[in-house]
Amino acid sequence: MKAFPHRHLLGIEPLEASDIQTILDTADGLKEVLDRPIKKVPALRGKTVVNLFYEASTRTRSSFEIAQKVLSADSLSIATATSSVTKGETLLDTAKNLEAMNPDMIVIRHQASGAPHFLARHCRSAIVNAGDGAHEHPTQALLDALTLRQKKGRLKGLRVAIVGDLLHSRVARSNLWLLAKMGAQVVLCAPPTLVPAGIEALAPVTYSIDEAVEGADAIMMLRIQLERMGGGFFPSLREYHKRFGLTLERVRRAKKDVVILHPGPMNRGVEIASEVADGPDSEILDQVTNGVAVRMAVLYLLLGGGRE
Ligand code: CP
Repeated sequence: MKAFPHRHLLGIEPLEASDIQTILDTADGLKEVLDRPIKKVPALRGKTVVNLFYEASTRTRSSFEIAQKVLSADSLSIATATSSVTKGETLLDTAKNLEAMNPDMIVIRHQASGAPHFLARHCRSAIVNAGDGAHEHPTQALLDALTLRQKKGRLKGLRVAIVGDLLHSRVARSNLWLLAKMGAQVVLCAPPTLVPAGIEALAPVTYSIDEAVEGADAIMMLRIQLERMGGGFFPSLREYHKRFGLTLERVRRAKKDVVILHPGPMNRGVEIASEVADGPDSEILDQVTNGVAVRMAVLYLLLGGGRE
């Protein structure tokens, strides 16, 4: 096993291609544990992890929790809605008080970009970013890459279309970094109102989904993040689906063995038609399964035998 040279996982941007490779290889190796009759190994016995979620989550939080259980770490999850955060306790005070109970790692999801980096500067625990504002969602990009690599056998040279709400998407940013570092070709697509300034420096942007998906090896659809919009980004959900929704007709423009990805939760009938989400090219539930393997790998590399 190669040594992992990082203390925290704050984003994909600071990683080298070799770090990404190490995480994906470790996830591939650990995944078989999930198929055993007894899904438990003692790798992280005696380690304690706190999952601190300031935003809602189904997939990320449960897969971190399952990964911690499979690796025998002790863990607790704090939903801030039922914690003293509701009484006005600051992020730093909350983290410092949790640290006083001596955990080894804090997994944090927060609405503010940079919140995990702030904790990494002030806490002694290893910090894992489970999504910070519109900035990064590194474990999502890693599980997307694992899914793509399993289906296609490689990442290098793949043509990947990322389509949807680029403006609010931490998933898009982490995937852009990861796919560029691993040698894939990315094309971005969104309505002009949902394209962040300067993103065209990282990958070409088109306003036509038909053009974006033409000849694609993979299509990564992004959720329209209505909860982060005050309105006015597009005329209506119906209009959005017509112009930017992934339909069966549009999937046919891609390669025959195209892989359809979506990080979830999906707005069915908005960014993706149900017949595509549930169709033969969809790997959306495999992404969720791979989420457990990737999070096992991250926990193992940061807390187990993976560090130098
Ligand atoms: N993909 C993702 O982050 O899903 P959750 O918000 O349910 O964790």
